[in-house]
Amino acid sequence: MENRGRNRKEILAKLRLILGNDAKYEDGKILCSMCTKPRPIAEIAHQMFLCSNLGDSGLFPGSRRLEQEVVRKLADLLNGKSKAGFIVSGGTEANLLALLAARDWLDVSNPEVVLPESAHFSFDKICNLLKLKPVWAELDNTFRAVPESVERCITDRTVAIVGTAGTAELGAVDPIRGLSEVALAHGIHLHVDAALGGLVIPFLKYAERDALEFDFRLGGVKSITVDPHKMGMSTVPAGGILFRKRAFLDHIKTETPYLSDETQYTFVGTRSAASVAATWAVFESLGREGFTKTVGRCMALTRLLAKNIETLNLKLVVQPTLNIVAFRTSNSKETAEILQKRGWFISYVPRLDCLRIVIMPHLRRQHVQTFLADLSKMIQ
Ligand SMILES: Cc1ncc(COP(=O)(O)O)c(C=O)c1O
Repeated sequence: MENRGRNRKEILAKLRLILGNDAKYEDGKILCSMCTKPRPIAEIAHQMFLCSNLGDSGLFPGSRRLEQEVVRKLADLLNGKSKAGFIVSGGTEANLLALLAARDWLDVSNPEVVLPESAHFSFDKICNLLKLKPVWAELDNTFRAVPESVERCITDRTVAIVGTAGTAELGAVDPIRGLSEVALAHGIHLHVDAALGGLVIPFLKYAERDALEFDFRLGGVKSITVDPHKMGMSTVPAGGILFRKRAFLDHIKTETPYLSDETQYTFVGTRSAASVAATWAVFESLGREGFTKTVGRCMALTRLLAKNIETLNLKLVVQPTLNIVAFRTSNSKETAEILQKRGWFISYVPRLDCLRIVIMPHLRRQHVQTFLADLSKMIQ
């Protein structure tokens, strides 16, 4: 830190310069992110609540109510009856709280969790932190969990099963009904990681939605991760964790020795209400109709991209279920590197040797068409 402070104009000019190095969603080149440009109303709401700390929410009762309202809205959307949940720092923290609750609910020694091979890498961190042994279950040829394989992994030390509604790599949705039946039969916790899919599936066309059951209507589902900072078009950081019943909260509770609240439930202590307000504002502003329109637009672009990739004689890894397209070229890694050099932010997934594109709300038809034109030039 310098000895003397600088003036505001200089500071802001420097910050603008630095910000110029960051990728911009509106340029339409970011094809690999599960976050997106927040809605304008989210940016305004975020600014308004910059000073509110939900880690000491006795001082900020308005913000606390807002968080409860957001949780209630998410629970409604996912057919939950309880309002037990929090807006946390992201999907990682949400998954962590779910597995902490599951582990301490059953309280067995040397606990294990059954994870399909497609589970998000956050579970590697979580297993490490919570001293849970991961037991990996197989996927079928559409990269979805196989309930029979999950069941074979269960032992008397298993405390939870994880299913994913919208895998990070392919957007695959596990057969959550099958996993729920396994969980109920063995009396263990099923956590659904719907970080992405939780704000996509409820807004799909009825027939598609119906085939992708994943929420609290299934009795075995005890907790769900659903992230407003992904398809919720809110500001970062906004993850969501919802529990089927309040009793789970006892297992993630910490007494606070000196704050205005006697207890905290999140892993993060001091936490901003800004992204909670942003999430609330987006939900109020768009309503189900607005979300349905945005999701419909993303899915239409996803299908357009997938169809055109096939027209180029490239192979899709799977037909997209949600707004992710994964495909292979004769040398996928090299193709990804060339596309990256041309300014596209695109992922290469080594595990599946494929390229991966996430169609988020910041992408428009012309962005996808420009990308396809570039790709087609490259592979000819
Ligand atoms: C399915 C899934 N779960 C969890 C996460 C982790 O979320 P975060 O990066 O917000 O912690 C992601 C991130 O992309 C994800 O796609």
